Amino acid sequence: MKAVIPAAGLGTRLLPMTKNMPKEMLPVVDKPAIQYVVEEAISSGINDIVIITGRGKEVIENHFDIAYELERILEERNDLEKLKEIKRIAELADIYYIRQKKALGLGHAIYVARKYVGNETFAVLLGDDIIFAKEPCIKQLLNIYKKFNTSIIAVQKVDKSLVSRYGIIDGEEIEKGIYKIKNLVEKPDIEEAPTNIAIMGRYIFTPTLFECIEKTPPGKNNEIQLTDALNILLKKEDIYAYEFEGKRYDIGDKFDWLRINIEIALQREEFREKMLKLMNELIR
Ligand code: UTP
Repeated sequence: MKAVIPAAGLGTRLLPMTKNMPKEMLPVVDKPAIQYVVEEAISSGINDIVIITGRGKEVIENHFDIAYELERILEERNDLEKLKEIKRIAELADIYYIRQKKALGLGHAIYVARKYVGNETFAVLLGDDIIFAKEPCIKQLLNIYKKFNTSIIAVQKVDKSLVSRYGIIDGEEIEKGIYKIKNLVEKPDIEEAPTNIAIMGRYIFTPTLFECIEKTPPGKNNEIQLTDALNILLKKEDIYAYEFEGKRYDIGDKFDWLRINIEIALQREEFREKMLKLMNELIR
C-alpha cells in the first residue's frame, strides 16, 4: 500500500515559528516531527511514501536525502554512531514528493497525489500529527481495513469543550470502538457537534475519494475540506471509524508541541532525571 503524507499547510497557528520553517520539521526532542510520521508508516509495512510539499518545504526533502558533506565530516571524526543514524534516515524508504502549488486545504492536498496513488486503496498520515502507540496507529487501521474492505478513519473521544478544533463524526457503534459513520462535521460549535468523537489524522481511503474531492466546493476557511469530500464519499460507500489505542499530539498547536517535547524528554533515560530535577525546581 502507498502512503500520502500531506505537509503543505502554512502552519499559521505556529507563527512566527513557521514563517520560514515548515511545522513538519519542528523538533520533537531530537528528531523532526515528520520523521516520526514516516517511521510510523514504515513500521506498519508501508515503504512507498509520497510527501505533499509546497514552497519553503525543501528542507523536508533534504532531511530524507543523503548528506555527503556531513557524512564525510562524521567519518573523519570517527563519530560512527551519528554517521549510522544520518545514513539510516536517508535509507528509510522510497520517498517521493509532489508540490501542492497553493495551500487550498487538506482535501486538495490529498487530491494532488491521485496520479501517484492510481486506482488503489491508500493510507494518509498527516505530517503534523504524531501518534505513539504499542501497535502503530496506521497498522491498527490496516487491520480493521482487512475486515471491512472500505475507508477507515482514526478517531478518539475528546473533551466536549474541544470539539470545535476537530472534524467530528456521527455514527453507530457496531462493535466496541468501531463506528459505521452516518455524518461528518468539520470543526462544529459545541452546540452543533453530534458527538465528541474526533478525527485524528490517520486514514485508509479507497480511490473513490478522489472523484469525491473533485466534486467538493470550498468550505470552511474557503478550503477544500477533506470532511466535506468524505460526506460525498459516504453517499457512495460505507466509511468506518476506529477508536485506536494510542496518544496523539498535534504539532500544529503551540501547546501540544511544547507538551510532546516535555513528555518525550521524560521518557528518554538520558534526560529523565535532569528533567524531573528541573521541573521540581521550577515548581518550588
Ligand atoms: P492543518 O489544518 O493543521 O494545517 O492541516 P495548516 O493549514 O498548516 O494549519 P494552520 O491552521 O494554518 O496552523 C493538517 C495537515 O494537512 C496539511 C498540513 O501540512 C498538515 O499536515 N495541509 C493542510 C496541506 O498539505 N495543504 C493544505 O492546503 C492544508
